[in-house]
Amino acid sequence: MSKVFFSVSMSLDGFIAPDEWTDIGGAGEESRSQWMQLQGWAFPQRFLRENLHLGQGGETGKDNEILEQTFNRTGVTIIGKRMFDGGETGWPEDAPFHTPVFVLTHQVRDPWERPGGTTFYFVNDGIESALRQAREVAGEKDIRIGGGAEAIRQYLNAGLIDECSIALAPALLGSGVSLFAGVDHRQCSLEIQEAVHSPLATHLNYAVRRQAD
Ligand SMILES: NC(=O)c1ccc[n+]([C@@H]2O[C@H](COP(=O)([O-])OP(=O)(O)OC[C@H]3O[C@@H](n4cnc5c(N)ncnc54)[C@H](OP(=O)(O)O)[C@@H]3O)[C@@H](O)[C@H]2O)c1
Repeated sequence: MSKVFFSVSMSLDGFIAPDEWTDIGGAGEESRSQWMQLQGWAFPQRFLRENLHLGQGGETGKDNEILEQTFNRTGVTIIGKRMFDGGETGWPEDAPFHTPVFVLTHQVRDPWERPGGTTFYFVNDGIESALRQAREVAGEKDIRIGGGAEAIRQYLNAGLIDECSIALAPALLGSGVSLFAGVDHRQCSLEIQEAVHSPLATHLNYAVRRQAD
């Protein structure tokens, strides 16, 4: 059965985005600099550069391999509306998923089909419904909870995450969007699967178990 996982970049003090972050075009200088610290390991990588049309070439080492493996294991992604809002303006026309994407939102909206295989479906009836719909289309592949923090937290608190990967950036943001604030610690215990580092980030992989398991 498909695994449910998330994979994010996080600062050492636990933030996945600067305060009031939307997208790179709308951000002030300080936010942009913090975002670059957070994602600084990913932007030079060839896989990401090609997928986001940032230009030819790029790094092809461990960090690149991790990005590519994460993409290849993903059959469908579930994201929160704030992440979608940033991407709607920031992602290229052929959004970087190339799979169905379910957006958790209160907004009622028709599916939005992009070139290259990404279709955004807007889900108004909660995280379990989105996961059920994701399982129907994931096939043999895994289901990524793409973020942001509010989306990930709800799945963690419902005991629905099997694995997580954190690319720990060597950065202290001081404040921002906290990944784990509000997580119900009684719902999750973590088991280390792998820890690898490059000169740019420390990649931590965990199996997530419910305390009851
Ligand atoms: N560092 C990384 O790797 C990484 C990865 C992903 C995202 N991010 C960042 O994370 C930030 C966004 O995270 P976030 O925690 O602020 O927001 P989010 O999880 O992306 O979205 C939250 C919004 O989604 C909708 N929503 C969530 N759960 C819902 C539910 N059960 N039912 C209906 N609607 C629901 C609500 O919007 P409505 O009420 O408006 O519909 C809610 O305000 C962005 O800045 C993004 O760039 C970082």
